[in-house]
Amino acid sequence: MILILDLGGKFSRFLGRRIRESQVYCEIVPYNHSIDKIKAKKPEGIIISGGIPTDVAIAEELDKGIFDLGVPILAIGYGARIMNGIHGGTTTMPSAFDYDFRKVDADKGSMLFNGLDEGLSLWLDDEYVFDTIADGFKTIATHNDGVVGIGDGSNKFYGLKFHPEIEESKDGNEIIDNFLFKICNCDRQWDMREFIDDSIEYIRAKVGDGKALCALSGGVDSSVAAVLVHEAIGEKLICVFVDHGLLRKHEREQVEEIFREQFHMNLITVDAKDRFLGKLKGVADPEQKRKIIGEEFIRVFEEEQKKLEDIGYLIQGTIYPDVIESGIDGKVAVKSHHNVGGLPEDMDFEILEPLRQLFKDEVREVGRLLGISEEIVARQPFPGPGLGIRVLGEVTEEKLEIVREADHIYRDEIKKAGWEDRIWQYFAALPDIRTVGVSHGKRTYTYTIALRAVNSIDGMTAQWVKIPLDLLEKISTRITDEIPLVNRVVYDITSKPPGTIEWE
Ligand code: XMP
Repeated sequence: MILILDLGGKFSRFLGRRIRESQVYCEIVPYNHSIDKIKAKKPEGIIISGGIPTDVAIAEELDKGIFDLGVPILAIGYGARIMNGIHGGTTTMPSAFDYDFRKVDADKGSMLFNGLDEGLSLWLDDEYVFDTIADGFKTIATHNDGVVGIGDGSNKFYGLKFHPEIEESKDGNEIIDNFLFKICNCDRQWDMREFIDDSIEYIRAKVGDGKALCALSGGVDSSVAAVLVHEAIGEKLICVFVDHGLLRKHEREQVEEIFREQFHMNLITVDAKDRFLGKLKGVADPEQKRKIIGEEFIRVFEEEQKKLEDIGYLIQGTIYPDVIESGIDGKVAVKSHHNVGGLPEDMDFEILEPLRQLFKDEVREVGRLLGISEEIVARQPFPGPGLGIRVLGEVTEEKLEIVREADHIYRDEIKKAGWEDRIWQYFAALPDIRTVGVSHGKRTYTYTIALRAVNSIDGMTAQWVKIPLDLLEKISTRITDEIPLVNRVVYDITSKPPGTIEWE
């Protein structure tokens, strides 16, 4: 395994996914992880990655003991600056910096660049400049005569100012593979088929004769977790799907068809639409709506659980990004994550999280290997409170029906145009306004539909998608033609920040 010491930012996650793609298992831990914990993991190599350039405290908190472990170390980006500093070298930082793919001349004698061409194209930023190189290190890569890579003579420690883990970087990918396979001597052992086999064996042994309960939402993570556990314990897994009346068109039927008919799973559907709509009556505030939906979900789930006996385990679809400890500001904070939005604390279960080691792409691969259809596996994110936060203001059955229909038309046209794979998340929302329009020569005073489409990596930031105008026109025409209570369609051209992805 490879251990990534995370200096913050997004680089560690890119790197983690990149290494797993090379079939090597890796874990991401904060930069201030203690040396004892690092040793216990028995890494074959360590990577110090990413970072926020202004934070100087990091160098002090990083345990210098890692350089005495006899394990190869690759320091990337800001990590290389820290490693150089720890060994006595100096760097300075410019007032502003820029980044792009740039030409790098690499030392062919260095094992890191073994087999690569002379002039490489690598993602380089000039967030700092090497003034003096640390004792025992030499230059192994340059850009315009400036140092961008250093290494100690013994082929053990490397520092790179550029980012080889960037997805589009072919040369960078080879550099990472050289580190993994030629320097750390890793084997290609991380394989999703093996993961499935091992997990099934583990879950079977763990659950034993007891039963497990899973709150199935129909989203990627809970679906894959449920099918994996079902493979292991079959009938002993009971899934509960709560229909809160805030689902998209055909969603309930689709979930029932896939899990009950195709996988023959023990699935309980709870028809709780009236309960949820009753609680939401007269409530317009988004946070209050979220709270009501979350709490009601728990109540419904609790009631179902009380009807069942011998439940020893609760299955949750937690995945690795939810687990990664955030080391950005030195706080070792593990983000607590509940797929079902916070379960009651007095439940007498053990929690089983079969996907907690996996990145999202890996979860999808496991899902495909288990035979789950693309409809589920490639599904876009959908918020727990569902359409409840896409009907802005008070939620009524009439408004839900409008937004559900508009969303259905939107999805249908995007799919037909072949744009589905090009958009990370898209949906229709119903603003709480009515506007004047005209239809068949008569004045109308009806609703407006807002269309949103964004691309994003993790939902933290997002860019609005430039859907072709003729496609938008087609969607708009269909929505106003087919939904009598809508006379206007608008397209949201706001990125995040300053907007959020959802409107509420
Ligand atoms: P925002 O609107 O915060 O959304 O930019 C970021 C991502 O999170 C989803 N989202 C939610 N997911 N419960 C959820 O499970 C929620 O209350 C919730 N609010 C937003 C949103 O769809 C987007 O993918």
